[in-house]
Amino acid sequence: MVSTLPSLPHVAGTDPSSCILDAFRTAIAKRLSDTLPPLTIEQAYTGVDYGKKGVDFTVALPRFRLPGKPEELAAKVMIDFQPDDFIATITHDKQFLHFQLNNTSLVREVLNHIHTLTYDSPSGKPSYGTNTSGDGKTIVIEFSSPNIAKSFHVGHLRSTIIGAFLVNVYQACGWNVTSLNYLGDWGTQFGMIAVGFEKYGSQEELKRDAIKHLYDVYVQISRDADADPNVKVEAAEFFKRMEDGDESALSNWREWREMSIKKYIEAYDQLNISFDRYTGESEVGKEWQNKALEELDKLGLISDVKGAKLVDLEKWKMGKAVLRKADGTSIYLTRDIAGAIERYERYKFDKMIYVVASQQDLHLSQFFKILDLMGFPWANRLEHVNYGLVLGMSTRKGTAVFLDQIIKEASSVMHEQMKRNQEKYNTIEDPEMVSQEVGITGIKIQDMAAKRINNYTFNWERMLSFEGDTGPYLQYAHVRLTSMERKNPELLPLPPPSQIDTSSLAESTHARDIAILLGSYPDVVKTALKTHEPSGVVTFAFRLAHAISSAWETLMVKGEKDLDKAKARLWLYICARDVLGAAMRLLSIRPLERM
Ligand code: ARG
Repeated sequence: MVSTLPSLPHVAGTDPSSCILDAFRTAIAKRLSDTLPPLTIEQAYTGVDYGKKGVDFTVALPRFRLPGKPEELAAKVMIDFQPDDFIATITHDKQFLHFQLNNTSLVREVLNHIHTLTYDSPSGKPSYGTNTSGDGKTIVIEFSSPNIAKSFHVGHLRSTIIGAFLVNVYQACGWNVTSLNYLGDWGTQFGMIAVGFEKYGSQEELKRDAIKHLYDVYVQISRDADADPNVKVEAAEFFKRMEDGDESALSNWREWREMSIKKYIEAYDQLNISFDRYTGESEVGKEWQNKALEELDKLGLISDVKGAKLVDLEKWKMGKAVLRKADGTSIYLTRDIAGAIERYERYKFDKMIYVVASQQDLHLSQFFKILDLMGFPWANRLEHVNYGLVLGMSTRKGTAVFLDQIIKEASSVMHEQMKRNQEKYNTIEDPEMVSQEVGITGIKIQDMAAKRINNYTFNWERMLSFEGDTGPYLQYAHVRLTSMERKNPELLPLPPPSQIDTSSLAESTHARDIAILLGSYPDVVKTALKTHEPSGVVTFAFRLAHAISSAWETLMVKGEKDLDKAKARLWLYICARDVLGAAMRLLSIRPLERM
């Protein structure tokens, strides 16, 4: 990489080759450890934080627990300070030291770095923002996991969106990721559908839309069951035959399952989301389910209530839970216990994440606890990533129950929104595609904008508006950045980075604001890995979009007579586009080039 920065000592855990701000932080840490013995550079490094508005980095002196008052310590750091390639100024405010970076090297290094890692990456594919912290580690991420023949509700949509994000984040951090969709494809409801299908089923409807038809059959037969208790008995008997492996009871079910998966794949594909493997409750074997029961019995935790087996987790404030029904059929909880064990045997994961709504907090903690009680050393590698409710999700035709309906509604609301600006609308090449893509972006951004655990209210108008921090706004920002190359062909191809003079950018506060944001992107990815919060990435994307939008007026490319300036600005916008695009992709969004 073309770095002209002086060399610095290496601080463990940092990697200036993937995150250039690590170098600037190291320089600050070095200044601190040089002037405040016995503070080591490693200790000093941990105290270098991003500053508040307008401040690049801030250090809270008391956290080093050094003898002496903050004023005295500050004076030691500041005395005889000479601006260098890394640090421009140090200022002191009560317990804090504030550091401003050297604009010239900041702008040049950040842009060089992005350029190299995007177009000249050692791995051959764009890698700015990625790191290797997870190299050699394996993770299984289970998400989405809808129930066949029941509705794909917004809860599943959230799991899908957050799960896809986590897959991308772990991949960006070097982990070997396996994504699983654990379908609700087993249980008494399939007995119900089987009984219902004889009465209400139609092969034709099934072919047309399996998911919808099975749902309709389930709704109808459930209604019958309310009136006639025999229906449930019949259904339970049917499911028992399925559990016992009776082929005649299984063949229809197998076909329904396959057809439903096919439909799901189409919808996920529209969302830019895919799975390494479709598994499901039906695939969990009996062996470990029985063993779990035995082991817990040995621990004295099982009681028999009218033939049903209950596990007592009161000691851990997790209540009591059924592990097996009186007729011997398995249940959700037991399948999760055995399923986790089978997955460990298959993947030997270092970590496994379940992306499931917070309504199931108790269920997840129960089965994690049971695996722990059974003595599996890997039980503490399981993690539940939960999230709050979505309120008020309905389409104009009523409540949405299927994923494809939600996608269709988003596209059509977006399409109408776009038509309001007829002039602009006429210039769009493929309005169908654009409205679908932007509509989906709107859903995703609304979903990921706040902390996972917060509930939010589904609001079509708000999420699909071009105003405010919305998906359409983000797509628009990306499109506008992309258009810069198209609009300035006379400046292309740009010379190699070493021949672009960035000094004019270093003088612009707009440009350096953009540069430090761009430089912080690798940190944003690392934070997302720690917190499992997409909202940090969404916030970053909007901060970047805003910084760019305030720069347009002053950092013009078109019409700039000084060609060196024009080229440097164009380069800045190209780098900004690449990083905004990377952040959007991390959020599973497909950045558009035109709209
Ligand atoms: N199918 C379940 C539901 O819709 C979610 C499955 C969550 N994953 C798990 N391993 N339990 O409620």
